[in-house]
Amino acid sequence: MSNIVWHDHKITRAERSANKNQKPCLLWFTGLSGSGKSTIANALDVALHERGYHTFLLDGDNVRHGLCQDLGFSNEDRIENIRRVGEVCKLFADAGLIVMSAFISPFASDRRMVRELFPAGEFIEVFMDAPLETCELRDPKGLYQKARAGEIKHFTGIDSPYESPEHPEICLNTSQKTVDECIEAVIGFLKERELIDAQ
Ligand code: ADX
Repeated sequence: MSNIVWHDHKITRAERSANKNQKPCLLWFTGLSGSGKSTIANALDVALHERGYHTFLLDGDNVRHGLCQDLGFSNEDRIENIRRVGEVCKLFADAGLIVMSAFISPFASDRRMVRELFPAGEFIEVFMDAPLETCELRDPKGLYQKARAGEIKHFTGIDSPYESPEHPEICLNTSQKTVDECIEAVIGFLKERELIDAQ
């Protein structure tokens, strides 16, 4: 960082979001592959967009096609994946948007690192609390089957760890709740925290 000096922007973060009449925040979806992160984050994106909010969604599978295409699934690469994504989420929130991210983000320390980039109350950890058995039964991309057959190494939940959040702001058991019930729970939380309007 030597010889690099931070340059303050003329328009502040608060001024940007005030122009949009909304409060920025990051809804950080974390959970096993197949736990429903992308499904729920997408449905929430639609629900908020329809209410007139300016949102953006970052999704693991898509980001790994571009920004993070050089990264694999070793612990080091996952850490770097989450570091980059966290920084991008912060930039979108600085632009005044309501941001959603859907990454396995298996390590508690990485999720904490992203949390610390945000002012208190703006980082909302959403734990997709579906048992491994359920995710493996769903196996939407056939990856668990490949992992069990030894064709994919370091697969989360099989031969790579997942550290469940201890104090997530929102916990969604997607094996028991419908998509609509999950969205209702998240929208309710955002209203309660006055991050969106109560109507
Ligand atoms: S993270 O661990 O770095 O947060 P990320 O969410 O970006 O992971 O990517 C996970 C997606 O990559 C999974 O949904 C799955 O489709 C795919 N994938 C491919 N290989 C693996 C693997 N070894 N472990 C987990 N997911 C994998």
